[in-house]
Amino acid sequence: MGKVFVFDHPLIQHKLTFIRDKNTGTKEFRELVDEVATLMAFEITRDMPLREIEVETPVRKSKSKILSGKKIGIVPILRAGIGMVDGILKLIPAAKVGHIGLYRDPKTLKPIEYYAKLPSDVEERDFILVDPMLATGGSAVEAINSLKKRGAKHIKFMCLIAAPEGVEAIKELHPDVDIFIAALDEKLNEKGYIVPGLGDAGDRLFGTK
Ligand code: PRP
Ligand code: URA
Repeated sequence: MGKVFVFDHPLIQHKLTFIRDKNTGTKEFRELVDEVATLMAFEITRDMPLREIEVETPVRKSKSKILSGKKIGIVPILRAGIGMVDGILKLIPAAKVGHIGLYRDPKTLKPIEYYAKLPSDVEERDFILVDPMLATGGSAVEAINSLKKRGAKHIKFMCLIAAPEGVEAIKELHPDVDIFIAALDEKLNEKGYIVPGLGDAGDRLFGTK
């Protein structure tokens, strides 16, 4: 069964409060999402495997560790996931970035895929799928389907705010995927928005309405 990790680091929680605030403007919202993505990437990479190599310092030869695991692929769910990519790349600059385009039909709330482009060596990579919001879970579940259909074997899902419904959907349909979130909120409202949430992540990131 997939595990759920809630990152309760004080810096993440502090910044998330200002991300939630409706009076935070587009520029600051974008900067804060970027910063939280970096902090979450620091936590999510905790289990990366290391191997020992020999390094020659100015003083003497020594054993030291470097990363030894599979290469990383970052996949934002368009649009809003884009806001988290640069923040992760600050810590994993050599990662390749794929994109999966999905939008929620406003009436049915069902996800509709309109774009998918992944690194060519999908099977060789560990993927971090990112989207600020996990609401009904429809988009994340569909994006994971899409990644797996193209050969992805190991996927982590990372978001800022999740509703219990979305977490349950991933756990039920993709029990092999661990979920990393900054906050688990109360519920969804009748329009499928997370309560209290932060509103529409894509609109707040890109200044659209
Ligand atoms: C938002 C959000 C997620 C999705 C979550 O995207 O960024 O992708 O909704 O909802 P779900 O869990 O119920 O599927 P939206 O469909 O608004 O598209 P956008 O990013 O293009 O604004
Ligand atoms: N998508 C968003 O952007 N916000 C929500 O609260 C739910 C889905």
